[in-house]
This record gives sequence, structure tokens and C-alpha cells, in this order.
Amino acid sequence: MTVIVYPDKDSLAKVTIARLCLAISDAGAQREHVHVAIAGGSVGSSLIAGLASSPLAAHVNWSQVHVWWVDERFVPATSPDRNHVAVDDALAALGLRAEHVHRMPSSDDADTPTQGAQAYAAELARFAQSGAPLPVFDVVVLGMGPDGHIASLFPHHPGLLVDSSGEPEQVSLGITDSPKPPSGRISLSLAAINRARHVWVAAWGAEKAPAIARAIAGDDREDTPAAAVSGLEQTLWLTDLAGAGDAAS
Ligand code: 6PG
Repeated sequence: MTVIVYPDKDSLAKVTIARLCLAISDAGAQREHVHVAIAGGSVGSSLIAGLASSPLAAHVNWSQVHVWWVDERFVPATSPDRNHVAVDDALAALGLRAEHVHRMPSSDDADTPTQGAQAYAAELARFAQSGAPLPVFDVVVLGMGPDGHIASLFPHHPGLLVDSSGEPEQVSLGITDSPKPPSGRISLSLAAINRARHVWVAAWGAEKAPAIARAIAGDDREDTPAAAVSGLEQTLWLTDLAGAGDAAS
């Protein structure tokens, strides 16, 4: 695990956007398809939306890039609550192929979050390397809530345990009781997230400092789900001075 502390969230965002462009460009030099999964909340709106304005974006072959979501709110497709709505324009400006933007089903597309999660699992399998349940994501960019949740995996929520219940590995799950509104969501599972080569958690501000400190210290996943994220090649925590306050003490 690597922790990088920036002076403030603006410098964190600028550098992370550049880091993402370089990571995608490096992956594109090694593989035909590059798979990136992004979280919602301020990470999506501040980081992904800023990609088009990065000087490095011009050096990325965006036609190779697939964008997936780590989680999504199970509301109508055009609702401002949808995570993809905040980044649709940015992705279009970058010139991604329409069929490479893999939005999670909305409540217009499926009857229940679980049905939507099953449809997303089928979409992931379509783009997986032979026999795998989902593609190996080159980068997963997560946010984290003040309670230590990542994606829509919340403390003491059964969604955290789908991978350790002995059931076949579940790549996505439907949630109907999210403590963070809206209550209906679709989320990748922890196992799906941890199949990524690079997992980055971008969380900043004093409000999240206690959860950041618990996660970095390796707290129990039930209490701090963010503590359980681990990339195959890299686990990177990106925060600012305010967010690092408790970890430093
Ligand atoms: C969601 C997000 C969620 C988010 C965290 C952090 O759909 O709500 O995916 O997991 O990443 O709650 O959100 P902020 O970065 O906006 O604080």
C-alpha cells in the first residue's frame, strides 16, 4: 500500500488526473483493451470530469478505453443522482466509443437492483478474458465515505461478505438498504474490485480522516470496508493534509 498526501484536494485532483492518463496510456501500450472502473460521488465529478482538460489526455488512445462503474444508484436513467450523469459529457469529449461506456442498469432498465446487478455481471463477463467472470481492470478509482464505505459496500452490510460466504464469487450485487441515499444501488463486490491491477482510493478532508486512518491501519473490513481494498499490483491511497491528519498522529 502506498499513501500520497497532497497539500489540498485541488492538487490531489490535478495530479490524479495526470496519473490516470499515464496509467491508461501505459496499459494501452501493453493491451488492446484498457478497462477502468470509476466510483461516483466527488471522485467521479472532480477527477473523471477533469480528464478532458488534462494536457496528457491528448496522449491517450481513448478508443482502447472501456469505462465501467464501481457502483451506481438504482434510480431513473436521467436522474441527477446517477453517477454516470456527472461524467457523461467528459467521456464524450474524450472520444470513447459508445459501446465502451458500460453504465450500470437504471430503474428504467431493470425491475430490481438485484436484476440490474445480474445484467451488469453478464456485461462484465462479455468483456472478460476467456472464462473469467469479468475483465481485469487496469485501474479502479474509488471514493470513500466518512464511515469508510467504498463503492456501495457499507460497514456491517451483508454485501461485504458475498465473497467469503462460500457462494460462487459474485461480481456485482443489488442493494436496497443503502444508508447513503438513494437506498437502491448496484455495486461491484469487493472481490471484483480487488481483481484490478491498480486500486486507488481518493479521499480527502478532515471529515474522512478517522476512516482513512482506520483503513490504512488495516481495520476489520466489517467496520471499515475501505481497509479491504487491495490491487493485484498496486493499492494507492490519495489524500490531502486534512484527510491524513489522524493517520499521521
Ligand atoms: C456513491 C459513491 C460512493 C462515494 C463515496 C464518497 O455512489 O455514492 O460511489 O461510494 O464514492 O460515498 O463520496 P464523496 O467522494 O462524494 O464523498
